Amino acid sequence: MTLRNARIIFWAGTLVSVAIFAWLTWDFHRQEEAYAHTSKIDDRVVAGKKVWHKYNCNNCHTILGFGGYYAPDMTKAYYRLGESNIISIVMQPQEIYRDSFRKMPNLGVTEAEAADLVQFLHWTANIENRKWPPQDEKYVQAARLRDEQPEKVRKTDIVLGACGGCHSFANQGRDIAGDFGELARDLDYDRETLVRFMLDPRSVNSDSSMPAQNITPETAGIIADFILSLR
Ligand code: HEC
Ligand code: HEC
Repeated sequence: MTLRNARIIFWAGTLVSVAIFAWLTWDFHRQEEAYAHTSKIDDRVVAGKKVWHKYNCNNCHTILGFGGYYAPDMTKAYYRLGESNIISIVMQPQEIYRDSFRKMPNLGVTEAEAADLVQFLHWTANIENRKWPPQDEKYVQAARLRDEQPEKVRKTDIVLGACGGCHSFANQGRDIAGDFGELARDLDYDRETLVRFMLDPRSVNSDSSMPAQNITPETAGIIADFILSLR
């Protein structure tokens, strides 16, 4: 190859790459609102992001794949767990993960800070990331549809969308607090007690470490029927 040809390849390659990169950047900013919902970034979302940095949650967790790979990705955690579970996990990880081999330290996050974190994670959960990773997308769909149109969601997706952050079934979800197949066999609650247990565990079992679930009584009924059908 002559020096002249090498220069042509170098400049053509560089300029084409720069043009593509500049176009992608411009195109993203053009659609910023649609992808990142920037108008929804209010003071509480910003406060939650500051809490995220104050406690270095990123050392162990990732958001959009950035951060530490020790603990679960947090981008869609809002839909995977819901508000009350996130607050309970952040404030009492030693209780929730009592029986888990992986541990999260109690970082001393205050209740107000945990509430701001939820706002931040609610915002990240709505970032348009083109339905990736797909296993989280199931939880997003189930969380969005389960209260209004439960008939449109598969039963297992309703159950795992609500409880799959800590329980598993048929090799889906995360088994921190028991697999529903096994739990169902040992469970002696009737339907009404099981519904009450989901909405307020301590009213049924005073030393339960399971957080109250923020689901409607109707959804709790669907889940109870599912669990009891496994017996
Ligand atoms: C030293 C590492 C570490 C730090 C720092 C840490 N976590 Fe965790 N976190 C974990 C581990 C490990 C788990 C999963 C435990 C398990 O699966 O048994 C977890 C789980 C979670 C979960 C549940 C995730 C899911 O999908 O089930 C939430 C929510 C969470 N952490 C929030 C936070 C927040 C918010 C912060 C910062 C205030 C934080 N974590 C800081 C290690 C950490
Ligand atoms: C944030 C974690 C978490 C989530 C989410 C969660 N659980 Fe639990 N669950 C626990 C823990 C921890 C226990 C361990 C036993 C205890 O302390 O009561 C438990 C225990 C249970 C038990 C056994 C109770 C008993 O007395 O033997 C049932 C049934 C149950 N959960 C159902 C559910 C259902 C249904 C959902 C979803 C609506 C759900 N859980 C969501 C953490 C969770």
